[in-house]
Amino acid sequence: MAKITTSALLKLKQQGEKITALTAYDASFAKLFADAGVEVLLIGDSLGMVLQGHPDTLPVSTAEIAYHTRCVRAGAPQAFVIADMPFMSYATMEQAFANATPLMQAGANMVKLEGGEFLLPTIKALTERGVPVCGHIGLTPQSVHVFGGFKVQGRDSAAADHILQQAIELEQAGAQLLVVECIPSALAKRISEALRIPVIGIGAGVDTDGQILVMHDLLGISSGYIPKFSKNFLQETGDIKRAISQYISDVKQSAFPGAEHSFN
Ligand code: KIV
Ligand code: NA
Repeated sequence: MAKITTSALLKLKQQGEKITALTAYDASFAKLFADAGVEVLLIGDSLGMVLQGHPDTLPVSTAEIAYHTRCVRAGAPQAFVIADMPFMSYATMEQAFANATPLMQAGANMVKLEGGEFLLPTIKALTERGVPVCGHIGLTPQSVHVFGGFKVQGRDSAAADHILQQAIELEQAGAQLLVVECIPSALAKRISEALRIPVIGIGAGVDTDGQILVMHDLLGISSGYIPKFSKNFLQETGDIKRAISQYISDVKQSAFPGAEHSFN
């Protein structure tokens, strides 16, 4: 497979082809996912929950994300790799510069930051310095204590308009990709149509430009509960490789997520 770039992802959106993404944390799964045709691999700070067993993503460090980014890059040299910037690692612009550096040097193609307005200057500055940025709005798990739980965002029309406005501003600031998490499907559709850059959804309905899942949820091996928006593809296929292929084809054909995995 040819190396996947930001322009390749943009082209997929322009052609109306859905983008498939999964989290990955190690070389073996990264290779399996990339060989199956998953376009984007995310070293999510979800690793704080699914690998480290914490109740949220807050304890994760930049060094830990860098370590797992090196592992993923080693297994998938051609994949488009996004590394999450962890909690409070981009609270100031200087911190963002300092912490994006080891992630890019570990092999990331892009870093992902959670938030809206306060990030606009940081996104512009990172991009100008050679660090592509993926935004992440809606339910941003690093703010779980502000939200008072992992809750769907943008339910009422004022909140929905605010999230759409954030999306537009992130794109204007230079973000080249956007993740929207746990928002009503209709809002995710509006955002995907309003933006030129690809919008990747999780718990955001079927009308985004692509989908992402935490790999442990896709395989039904997350400790604790599996969120409503996720699906255990291993259960229906009985085989890891077939589970991955099923996920890819369901996303490409807009068969996943269904209404039962989405919010209204
Ligand atoms: O950390 C993560 O896995 C994520 C995805 C759920 C988008 O940010
Ligand atoms: Na994350």
